[in-house]
Amino acid sequence: MQTPIPRLEIKNLMRRYDGRHVVNNVSLRVMPGHVTCLLGPSGCGKSTTLRMIAGVEMQDSGEIWVDGSLVCDTVYRVPPERRHIGLMFQDFALFPHLSVARNVGFGLSGDKAAKQRRIEELLDRVGLSRYLNAYPHELSGGEQQRVALARALAPRPGIMLMDEPFSGLDNRLRDGIRDETLEILREQDTAVLLVTHEPEEAMRMADEIALMRDGRIVQQGAPYNVYNAPVDRSAMAFFSEVNVIRGRVRGSLVDTPFGQFLSPGAYEGSEVEIVIRPQHIKIDFDRHGRGPNPTPQDGTPARGVVERARFMGSESLVEFRMDHDGSLLKATVPNVFLPRPGKALWLMIRRDRCFLFPVKG
Ligand SMILES: Nc1ncnc2c1ncn2[C@@H]1O[C@H](COP(=O)(O)OP(=O)(O)O)[C@@H](O)[C@H]1O
Ligand SMILES: [Mg+2]
Repeated sequence: MQTPIPRLEIKNLMRRYDGRHVVNNVSLRVMPGHVTCLLGPSGCGKSTTLRMIAGVEMQDSGEIWVDGSLVCDTVYRVPPERRHIGLMFQDFALFPHLSVARNVGFGLSGDKAAKQRRIEELLDRVGLSRYLNAYPHELSGGEQQRVALARALAPRPGIMLMDEPFSGLDNRLRDGIRDETLEILREQDTAVLLVTHEPEEAMRMADEIALMRDGRIVQQGAPYNVYNAPVDRSAMAFFSEVNVIRGRVRGSLVDTPFGQFLSPGAYEGSEVEIVIRPQHIKIDFDRHGRGPNPTPQDGTPARGVVERARFMGSESLVEFRMDHDGSLLKATVPNVFLPRPGKALWLMIRRDRCFLFPVKG
């Protein structure tokens, strides 16, 4: 079987500003009908990557391919308007002096009747037919966003580049618009490269996440895998709060107050971090100092005293001051249980959910 050709492929893209690599050897593929999310903290090079693909900025080196054809390298360059790439940005700015219909039809060429049909079809699809002749200022933020989507989709781009397009919308509205936008893009078989700094947005929308840091992609995969098999501590910490327990490797084991952990691959005598998310810490009652009766899988329990407990809705976030070394550990518990500060409880670590990383020094 032939391997399918990606709709968009970028190979080893590089971009320097003032001698600093802001995009450093980035490679990606996006298949038709798929959403890849470029996820990373502000300033890591996401927008610069997108601008190079759009063609509004030139890479120092690397290649951009669309449907198996070269679109841009350092010698050859297809101009932006001939790349058939749709763009959607946070400040998507509709033309204020043009009606909704004319905004949507702005990038369309060809005969007038066909143009009108396409405009009506798209406004119908985003549920805004009744605003055909309205002006942008008469629409809510969410409605304007849908017009912007219709405008970007009108010329049937094979690729859609989206740079934090939902960050200007309020939370409740955003979820609905995200889902609706995705549904439409999938229907059109568009390849989507979405930029965001929000892990929840990436996990909600992406078929594949490319986690970016300091200009590089540090991990790439399905959201489930990136979340559950992080490459290092900061990749893990980008998605949620984490607890870090340090220890030293002795005879392939690390001794901790929570018992011994296997440390495959770590050097004898080296320092390692055991990293665990708050939701994977188990809590049990003190029972007058006798503590829980752990299963072998739970390892050794360690006692701590509640320092702070915050009610978060579906769960509570509890901070414990640990008896053994005075460190703080965070655990989430179902909201039926909101312990008071000062209460002693026992914590256990779910071994199948913790990760061991070498301490970089
Ligand atoms: N035109 C420019 N000149 C100099 N530095 C820039 C320019 N554009 C972006 N940068 C720098 O490149 C880095 C990456 O920026 P950007 O791609 O916008 O990051 P992100 O979208 O991930 O927040 C930042 O440190 C930013 O300050
Ligand atoms: Mg940006």
